Amino acid sequence: MKNILILPGDGIGPEITKEAVKVMEATMKAYNIDLSFDYGLIGATSIYKVGNPLPEETIKKAEQSDAILLGAVGVPELDGEKDPNRRPEMGLLGIRKAMDLYCNIRPVKTYETIKHLSPLRDEVVSGTDFIIFRELTGGIYFGKKGRSEDGLTAFDDCDYSVFEIKRIAKLAYEEAMRRDKKLLLADKANVLETSRLWRETVTEMNKDYPEVKLEYQFIDNAAMQVIMNPSQFSVIVTENMFGDILSDEASVLIGSLGMLPSASYGTKTALFEPSHGSYPQAAGENIANPVATILSAAMLLQYIGYDDAAKAIENAVDSTLNNNITTSDINSKNPVSTSDVGDYIVEYILKNA
Ligand code: IPM
Ligand code: MN
Repeated sequence: MKNILILPGDGIGPEITKEAVKVMEATMKAYNIDLSFDYGLIGATSIYKVGNPLPEETIKKAEQSDAILLGAVGVPELDGEKDPNRRPEMGLLGIRKAMDLYCNIRPVKTYETIKHLSPLRDEVVSGTDFIIFRELTGGIYFGKKGRSEDGLTAFDDCDYSVFEIKRIAKLAYEEAMRRDKKLLLADKANVLETSRLWRETVTEMNKDYPEVKLEYQFIDNAAMQVIMNPSQFSVIVTENMFGDILSDEASVLIGSLGMLPSASYGTKTALFEPSHGSYPQAAGENIANPVATILSAAMLLQYIGYDDAAKAIENAVDSTLNNNITTSDINSKNPVSTSDVGDYIVEYILKNA
């Protein structure tokens, strides 16, 4: 049996994770999978209940889990809070660090059925299918930070070690080997010493993967290329901050933020979550698109070894698109609800197993 920890979080988090659990339960029946679900607190919900965004109990549960599914964190009421115990995103950063979730994977793939929703022209987005490997526990996010005594200067250090670079680059190279053997390192090696270490390290590792064609782009150029010619990319590996920005940018290509899953691999467990935020305006309305979370659950099932179940979920999602069983972000004319999408996917899985 595999232990799955569900962290619903804030905003639409509870309703979208509910649909993903429903879908995983359907795959348990259809594919004879044995999962147990436990629940934990994170984010603003946790701040309001117990006074901090990542209670010790959640960390304990995470340590005992085989995988974690997270909804989203963040509420507007706590935007701009200075006390870290009152900042929901500290829950997210905290669990990344505590579980050593160093490798964030964000696939970006256009769907023929919704590519007209992209702000970019059809011929530009057509054929987009790449995957970003973002380092998640190092760099400027977690470096030393502070203010000078007079408060007029602030700093955030950016450090990277060869160890940190190698472990994510290894996963990116392996993905490149499974795909078309192309790897792109996005960095700022013309300016930053950390980027030069990334380049040296990733280039050196190319010896272990001689079939992989390694290329480099400066991050500013990569940001431009992602919207000019996204189909050139296959696997992109990059540091924490660059990956944060590049993945938000890339997410608009496909036409809805509600479609993009993500995975974060660590040394202890792995965490799966939609790439979008907590969409507080829609909380409790049963209108948010649950697909990114449901596809994150598919990535989770694949990670714990259930490829068939993962594939079944992906097929079910394709079917929702082909049959217009979609929420208002995609379908303005006759949208269905969050739970309708979940119900359809559950039924599809049970019928087609
Ligand atoms: C993300 C988010 C987080 C990040 C925030 C909420 C801290 O933007 O997962 O991309 O910057 O990593
Ligand atoms: Mn981000």
